[in-house]
Amino acid sequence: MLFKFPKSSDCPESDVTPESLYMSRRSMLGTAVSVMAASSLPRWAGADEVARYPDVEPGKAPAWFREKLPATRWGAVNVKDESITPFKDATHYNNFYEFGTDKGDPAANAGALKTEPWSVVVDGEVGKPGRYALEDFMKPYQLEERIYRLRCVEAWSMVIPWIGFPLSALLKQVEPTSKARYIRFETLLDPQSMPGQRSGFALIDWPYIEGLRLDEAMHPLAILAVGMYGRELPNQNGAPLRLVVPWKYGFKSVKSIVRISLVSEQPKTTWQSIAADEYGFYANVNPTVDHPRWTQARERRLPSGLFKPNVRATQMFNGYADEVAGLYAGMDLRVNY
Ligand code: MTE
Repeated sequence: MLFKFPKSSDCPESDVTPESLYMSRRSMLGTAVSVMAASSLPRWAGADEVARYPDVEPGKAPAWFREKLPATRWGAVNVKDESITPFKDATHYNNFYEFGTDKGDPAANAGALKTEPWSVVVDGEVGKPGRYALEDFMKPYQLEERIYRLRCVEAWSMVIPWIGFPLSALLKQVEPTSKARYIRFETLLDPQSMPGQRSGFALIDWPYIEGLRLDEAMHPLAILAVGMYGRELPNQNGAPLRLVVPWKYGFKSVKSIVRISLVSEQPKTTWQSIAADEYGFYANVNPTVDHPRWTQARERRLPSGLFKPNVRATQMFNGYADEVAGLYAGMDLRVNY
């Protein structure tokens, strides 16, 4: 991955803008996941959702999304004392190599991606395999807003209010067999609308593949997202369906998913296949294990600039250690990076 790091300095407290909405933390679903109770929030409904994020560009949500949105559990999981990244940055500084390698390419080129109709295949080691139209796939799930840190392996980070549902809910629905040990995700393969897949210079063997161990996938913080900032996902952010695993480097959070397979062997993932010594299968955010070419001890919180680099210390498991460290008990995280 390309890597640009501006002059570093520690992030002063004043760089954390005071508009931060973030309040109390509570545990949820019987785990230590930090949440803010939906009932303690004002009701945001209809057009008001967009008003919560004043800089949001309204999209063209499909009917199923508009119908589900009012029942969303807003602020179901939150971050404390950190500002949400402006919508403009979250949607114009992207990694989505199917649309180009520059950070602005996805916003410039992803408009051609047709996200409706969309279907998702669930197959492999499951009792209930199938191909679903996205609106049917989404039927069983209530939407939740999950405000998470996103930490890219390139050492930039954001705070994004996703809308989605727990991946564990899907897994319970499709009934993994006793042979299922991993979950594999596949992005759309469509060279016609994805110029990066047409390029003869791409290092990636398309489609983009990612994977999780089954217990990681069952963790309540792992979600499938269909929206952000109170609206449906913009194409450049992985519309219409993407993974979000907030304690792992961003490349695990695969976009525009068309196939979800339960498998018995650890899947061959895209970045691991390109450079296994640089990008591991686990890819847990870890300030004590550097990338071979740069430090992971610090990160640049966007928006950042030359005169205000907004650099801060990276947190173990991206700040979710209390919730997820147990998944890796007894493992050497230097070996399993
Ligand atoms: N998914 C696909 N299909 N293709 C990609 O290039 N990039 C990954 C991940 N998911 C990528 C992808 C990387 S490197 C990061 S950091 C995040 O998406 C970025 O998500 P964002 O652009 O919504 O911030």
